[in-house]
Amino acid sequence: MYQALYRSFRPETFEELIGQEHIVKILKNQIKSGTVGHAYLFCGTRGTGKTTTARLLAKALNCTSEGEKPCGECEACRAIATGNFLDVVEMDAASNNGVDDVRILREEVNFPPAVGRNKVFIIDEAHMLTTAACNALLKTLEEPPANTVFILATTDPNKLPATILSRCIRLDFRRVSEEMLANRFEQICREIGVEADADALSLIASNADGSVRDGLSLLDRCTAGQKHLTREDVLFLLGMAGVETHLALTDAVLKKDAGEALSVLAQVLAEGKEASQFGRDWLEHLRNLLIIRFAKKPENMLNLSLENVERLKEQSKACDTELLRSCLMELSRALSEAKWAPKPRILLELAIIKMCSRQ
Ligand SMILES: Nc1ncnc2c1ncn2[C@@H]1O[C@H](COP(=O)(O)OP(=O)(O)OP(=O)(O)O)[C@@H](O)[C@H]1O
Ligand SMILES: [Mg+2]
Ligand SMILES: [Zn+2]
Repeated sequence: MYQALYRSFRPETFEELIGQEHIVKILKNQIKSGTVGHAYLFCGTRGTGKTTTARLLAKALNCTSEGEKPCGECEACRAIATGNFLDVVEMDAASNNGVDDVRILREEVNFPPAVGRNKVFIIDEAHMLTTAACNALLKTLEEPPANTVFILATTDPNKLPATILSRCIRLDFRRVSEEMLANRFEQICREIGVEADADALSLIASNADGSVRDGLSLLDRCTAGQKHLTREDVLFLLGMAGVETHLALTDAVLKKDAGEALSVLAQVLAEGKEASQFGRDWLEHLRNLLIIRFAKKPENMLNLSLENVERLKEQSKACDTELLRSCLMELSRALSEAKWAPKPRILLELAIIKMCSRQ
C-alpha cells in the first residue's frame, strides 16, 4: 500500500529535522552532558516536529551506538521508530484522556526499564487531558522514578493548567520557513524521482504556512502520477485557494476593479471550492490585514508563515482602516445571510460589487 510522504519521510536523526535548530541544540547538549530533564512540554503548530522530536529524544536515551545519538540504525532506534520498544510508551490523549488512562500510565511508571536504559512516556495532544487526569498526573510528573522521562506534546499549551506547565521544561517549536520547506521538498522529489520546478515547490511551501506535515501532504497531492511538476500544475492541482487568491481578490477590490474581483472568485469556485467556505477564508484574510495595521508583533497573532505575514504587510500598506472595516462588515453580513440563501455565491458577488463601487 502507498505510504504518505509525511510518514515515509519522518526524520530518524536530529540532523534530518528542519527549522528547529534551537531545540535540537538544547536537547543534544543535555543528552551529551547527561542532564536530560524528567518532564518536557513540546508546544507549537501542527506538523512542526513535536511527536518526531519526542521519539528522537526517546531514541537518544536508549540508543546503543557509540557515536552520535540517536543513530537511527541500532536495534533500539529501529524498534522505537516502529513503536515496538517496550520502554517507550506513547499515549494519545485525544482518545485516552481520562483519569483511568493516567492511572494505567502511573502503574507502568513503577516498573524499571525492561529492555532499554530509560523509560520514556510520550503524551501526545496533552491539552485534551481532562482536569482530573491532569491532577492524577501531577505527582508523577514532579517526582518520577529515576530513568523516567515524560514528554507532553501539544498545539495548545494555554489549555493546560499552570500546575502542569510549571513542572515541565517547555520547548516551543517554530513554523518552518518557506525556504527550508522548499529545500526539503526538493530533496524528497529527487528521492522519489519527480522533477519539480523551483517555483512550483515555493508555491507549495507558501501554502503550507510553516507546517512540514501540511507541506508534505500538499506535495503528495501534487506529485501523484507526475514526472515533472510545474507551478501551473500546482495551481491547478491545489485549486489555488491559498493566500495567493485572497491577495489577488483583495488587490482587485483595492483597485475598485469589480470585473477582476469577480473573475478571481469565479476561478476559485470553478475549481470546486465552496462559496461560503471561501468567503470565510477571505474574511480571515481581511481580518489579518486589519490586525497587521495595529499589532506590534503580528506574526504571533496570525496563523501564517513569516513570508505570508510579509505579503500581508505589503498589502495592508495599500489599505486604510476604514476601508477594511467596511469590507469586513459587508462580507460578514453576506456570509450570515448566505446561511439561508439558496445560492450563497450571489451574496458573495453582491458584496464584492458593493465593495468595489465605494465612493
Ligand atoms: N521539523 C521537521 N523536520 C522534518 N520533517 C518534519 C518536521 N516536522 C514535521 N515533519 C514531517 O511531518 C510529519 C509529522 O510530524 P510530527 O508528527 O512530528 O508533527 P507534530 O508537531 O507532532 O504535529 P501534530 O501537532 O499534528 O501532532 C513527520 O513524519 C515528518 O515527515
Ligand atoms: Mg504530534
Ligand atoms: Zn541508535
